[in-house]
Amino acid sequence: MKASMSEMEKRRILSEVALGNVPPDTIIKNGTLFNVFTREFIKDQSIWIKDGMIAYVGPDHDPLKDAETEVIDAEGMVLLPGLIEGHTHLNRTGIEEYVKHVIPSGVTTVVMETIELGLIFGKEGIEYFLRGLEGQPIRFYYTVAPLCGLTPSEEIKALKRREFLPLLRDPHCLGIGEIFWGNIFLEKQGERVQKLASLALDLNKRVEGHTAGATGRKLQAYTCFGVSSDHEPITEEEVMERLRLGYWVMIREGSVRKELPGVKGVFNKKIDFRRLILVTDGIDPEGFIEGGYLDASLRTAIKLGVPPEIAYQMVTINVAEHFHLDHLLGSLSPGKMADILIIPSVREFSPQLVMFEGKVIFKDGKATVEPRKTTFPNYMFKTVNIADHTFSPRPNKGKVRTMELVTDLVTKEKIIDLENPEESRDMVMLLALDRVGQGGEFMGLLKELGLQRGAYGTTMSWDTIDMFIVGCDTHSMETVIRRLMEIGGGGVYAIGDEIVSEFPAPLCGMYSLKPMEILNAEIKKLEESLKRNGVRWEKPCLTIDTLGTPAIPHLRITHHGYVRLRDRAVLGLEV
Ligand SMILES: [Fe+2]
Repeated sequence: MKASMSEMEKRRILSEVALGNVPPDTIIKNGTLFNVFTREFIKDQSIWIKDGMIAYVGPDHDPLKDAETEVIDAEGMVLLPGLIEGHTHLNRTGIEEYVKHVIPSGVTTVVMETIELGLIFGKEGIEYFLRGLEGQPIRFYYTVAPLCGLTPSEEIKALKRREFLPLLRDPHCLGIGEIFWGNIFLEKQGERVQKLASLALDLNKRVEGHTAGATGRKLQAYTCFGVSSDHEPITEEEVMERLRLGYWVMIREGSVRKELPGVKGVFNKKIDFRRLILVTDGIDPEGFIEGGYLDASLRTAIKLGVPPEIAYQMVTINVAEHFHLDHLLGSLSPGKMADILIIPSVREFSPQLVMFEGKVIFKDGKATVEPRKTTFPNYMFKTVNIADHTFSPRPNKGKVRTMELVTDLVTKEKIIDLENPEESRDMVMLLALDRVGQGGEFMGLLKELGLQRGAYGTTMSWDTIDMFIVGCDTHSMETVIRRLMEIGGGGVYAIGDEIVSEFPAPLCGMYSLKPMEILNAEIKKLEESLKRNGVRWEKPCLTIDTLGTPAIPHLRITHHGYVRLRDRAVLGLEV
């Protein structure tokens, strides 16, 4: 990148500060500084800051000062670079609430996925979302969502090449977002994402991966398309296989999954850890309120025995290098952005002070800045448009195809005999409805949810324009559909005519703009009422939201039918 004159001038002044000819704006002195390059904790260090950047790092505490120079004494404390969250999504919450709750965590840079609004409004949705990320008190980069769906009909909003290119060229865009590995091999859908990957590579940007369950030659064949990161490994072996193939392996420790306990053995090996990254992949309101953000993931890592210096590299320099940002971010060294954290001791990650571009944004337990207000057009709050529909009669005899929950997320195809009471036990209706107004519905059957009465519906479905309603009776299902249309989307649980609990998420039927504490309380109430009525999974809303994603095996659903992930065959109830 060519430096503009003003950028050059800024760096020239920075260099004068280092030489002692110009006073810095701020001096942080007497701290133990973590050097991300050598993994040393160096005692008795100072950082001199000018115009939001670092000019000098070292033992000299007494530079030229003027009346404006501010001095922060970090005696006995540890200095770290601001954290970088390398892969995340907004999870049911609006941008402002998210920013507000990220600031205390010490994350000063976020690489955000852009799937959710893109799903409903394509390019326009992504652009509005990006506008919301601009001018916030922390820094956002993003990846453009490839919008991988189960079948082509889930990809109708995917960006055309001419829509992709301007976004890809944006300096804040770091590449193409997660490409589900199964999708890259599909005939038509695969060609589309292969093209996107090569566009990103041409511009020296990243192709973000998603390789859940891939191994051996299939994994390598996928890697041939230029994919360089993956946040899906769940075992030590999977981490090692990907590291050996040159991946930047993002270990996920967030609300959807927590992989650290399963992969921690990797840290006992005599290998290079510089391609390991720690990410959340999204934190839900409960996670934010009860644990925190990436700070909580870091604390877990350290508690599980990851050496702190390796854990800190995983959320600073390693992420910066993966995204080609290390010339600006990820270290405390001259010429980098002054994103600095002060923590009490090496093993105690609880930021006492968070500095972003030389400005204190969090201190003494309080944020000193407010998130910028975001706005979205009215029509983005009216996205639950159900064309007329009729419930197809539920079959009551013969053999049928059902979807069975194997875990809270993984499903499989199961053929059952409806006349066999043991086989047809614990089964509810599962309706997939196109909610963007084109019509289209499919009624399947879901086993092992546990629901005993009423119906639950969601518009917050992953990777699809469909809403899902699970129910024991069609009357309750009608109530749920009606209520979701009234509140603009979210999650609703009803028994008969009565709404038992709900979580309104009116922005694109995906996000609530209420304060995090309220979101947490609403979701908790909803999930508790589902569990009280029989649902046996820990996070019932998540279990239903994911029934249509190609990211999780084995049988999924769309408004056309079930979809077998392995060969993308669209299947009906009939066997
Ligand atoms: Fe993700």
